[in-house]
Amino acid sequence: MLEKNPVIFIILAFVVIMIGTTVTMIAPFKWINGPADRIAEVKPYTPLQQEGRDIYMREGCNNCHSQTVRTLAADVERYGNGGSYSKSGEFVYDRPHLWGSRRTGPDLARIGLKYPDPNGMWHRKHMDNPQSVVPASNMPAYAFLNQPLNFAYSERKMKLLNFPYTRADLDELKGKSEMDAIIAYMRKLGTDLPTKKAEAATQAPAARNNPFSDLKAVKTEALSLYAKNCAACHGDKRQGSLGPTLKGSAKSDAELFAVISKGRAGMPSFGSSLDEQGIWKLVTLIKLGKHDD
Ligand code: HEC
Ligand code: HEC
Repeated sequence: MLEKNPVIFIILAFVVIMIGTTVTMIAPFKWINGPADRIAEVKPYTPLQQEGRDIYMREGCNNCHSQTVRTLAADVERYGNGGSYSKSGEFVYDRPHLWGSRRTGPDLARIGLKYPDPNGMWHRKHMDNPQSVVPASNMPAYAFLNQPLNFAYSERKMKLLNFPYTRADLDELKGKSEMDAIIAYMRKLGTDLPTKKAEAATQAPAARNNPFSDLKAVKTEALSLYAKNCAACHGDKRQGSLGPTLKGSAKSDAELFAVISKGRAGMPSFGSSLDEQGIWKLVTLIKLGKHDD
């Protein structure tokens, strides 16, 4: 019946499509980025971080890296870095957003929480030559970013786009390299959010005893945990590189446990990625391991 009357059919089809459009596209504008969506802790980018973001786009990092932690449990576990999945309020200063759709490399939405060293030494080494810290990496080297930022261009760009930066803010860019900018950007991502990891770090360590007093019994496992999680920063043979040497220590077992599990200035925390037994095995290796181990 209906299909024999084209005018009514078209009108009804239009109404049905408009209901769908309203529900899925127009209505959400009411709440996306509305007051309920804002996250008070999320701060705007500084000029250096903003410049890093521009370089990130120029170099097409987003072709290999996403910046959004999906709601899937596995995604949160792997990329959440102690937080939960990404909320729209985290992206209010991102125009355009860089959520991305490919993950040749890992998600970077919370990368600032993963390598907390204030000097960004891990990032510097990794950007100069990714294979020097992750031997199997297929990420290209970006050592060429060690060139000065074009200050005049950056300034023109930010004025043109009406960024509310003051003179003093902009002067922060003087004498900086493109590498400084991209690292500042990496170190900012995800760090505004209050995370479980930050909460854990403020809790006092429980007094615990190392259950492993015999290195021989745990050595194979400890060495493999070490190679996978620690060698990139402390050297293949624990001789030290980005982090200090880990052969013997004046610290007590409980103190070493606390550093590894909670992290410190330049040292990531492993409390959420390694189990207690694994951390104790590493403590035993650090305390009792010999030079040739
Ligand atoms: C060809 C794909 C590719 C491109 C392009 C690329 N990356 Fe990567 N990236 C990877 C892969 C694969 C890894 C995982 C291995 C590693 O850590 O090197 C990675 C790792 C990383 C990590 C460490 C992630 C972690 O969780 O430890 C950071 C930070 C990073 N990339 C930043 C960048 C930046 C910034 C750019 C652009 C200047 C970029 N990448 C361009 C593939 C890429
Ligand atoms: C991203 C680089 C990085 C990784 C990965 C890393 N560390 Fe560290 N680590 C550091 C840095 C940098 C320091 C020095 C921090 C400070 O003193 O403020 C440090 C310090 C330490 C200390 C304290 C040493 C002392 O005598 O004060 C211990 C213990 C330690 N790391 C163990 C480990 C273990 C075990 C692993 C692997 C599970 C590991 N680290 C992985 C960078 C790293």
